[in-house]
Amino acid sequence: MNNALPDILPPTPAGIDRAARLLGTGALVAFPTETVYGLGADARNGTAVAGIYAAKGRPSFNPLIVHVASAEQAQKFGQWSPVAQKLATAFWPGPLSLVLPLVPDHGLSSLVTAGLPSVALRVPAHPAAQALLQAFGGPVAAPSANPSGRISPTTAQHVLEGLGPNVAAVLDDGPCTVGLESSIVGLDPEPVLLREGGIAREEIEAVLGGPLARPDGDTISAPGQLSSHYAPRARVRLNATAPHAGEVYLGFGDMAADMNLSPRGDLTEAAAALFDCLHRLDATGRPIAVAPVPTRGLGAAINDRLARAAAPR
Ligand code: TXA
Ligand code: MG
Repeated sequence: MNNALPDILPPTPAGIDRAARLLGTGALVAFPTETVYGLGADARNGTAVAGIYAAKGRPSFNPLIVHVASAEQAQKFGQWSPVAQKLATAFWPGPLSLVLPLVPDHGLSSLVTAGLPSVALRVPAHPAAQALLQAFGGPVAAPSANPSGRISPTTAQHVLEGLGPNVAAVLDDGPCTVGLESSIVGLDPEPVLLREGGIAREEIEAVLGGPLARPDGDTISAPGQLSSHYAPRARVRLNATAPHAGEVYLGFGDMAADMNLSPRGDLTEAAAALFDCLHRLDATGRPIAVAPVPTRGLGAAINDRLARAAAPR
């Protein structure tokens, strides 16, 4: 880790090539995905992966998602099954992570899996992420590129503000389009929705032709399950039909507010705007009141992130 500011790389062939080379040297490179910006490192290089935890200030070694360019590559690390194939066909590339049993001789750093016998795998759809993964040719471990417990980054600027000199480079390709982390499905072997995310539960269930189980209490404790994850510095009050004196108001739907997740009440638009709105409102230094957001479709993941932002720290 040095004290120089990260290189800001454009999503051009030269920028992608530089980012891939940096990953090859064990450096940390932040890159855009359609969900949020990721803090990437070579998933086979234990020292590089340890750097992710140091840069984020993550208190413990939670397992990381391994990003690969294709389902074919994912099968080098995770044990494939007909259900995995079904989900991959429907949602990859895209905002879905699959937790699969590790194959023997996977070559991943044990820090990536936190010593578990399973691995979370994702094929992102973002063109710059795809280009980077193809140029690098190997697995890239990447959590969201924010300090541990803080709001996830949906722009390169968020990454710079949060992590600054702790990353070697940021591949900048503008704001993320989905804006919520990937949905995580575990196959144990029954499909379990481990984290609500960028694909609505209903959509996944439609592909599976049956209900997704909810995680039981024994499931591994994910960062997303820590109560104060995604937290702004300011206090957050939910389901507020109007702001109290001194509060900034984050609206949803047709209403007067300081910022609005989606004036036309569109949950996809609201998901994409959520973290950027929280970053901006947090910068005002005032407490944040948030209007009610419906819980259908992507609203489930939006409400999940809001509840964590509002949780006592
Ligand atoms: O959209 C996303 O998923 C972003 C982008 C960068 O891809 N990444 C992301 O990573 O959100 P992170 O580290 O913030 O969240 C990874 C989640 C954690 O909740 C972790 O516990 C879970 O994945 N996870 C990883 N490996 C697992 C495993 N083997 N079993 C169960 N959960 C696992
Ligand atoms: Mg995160």
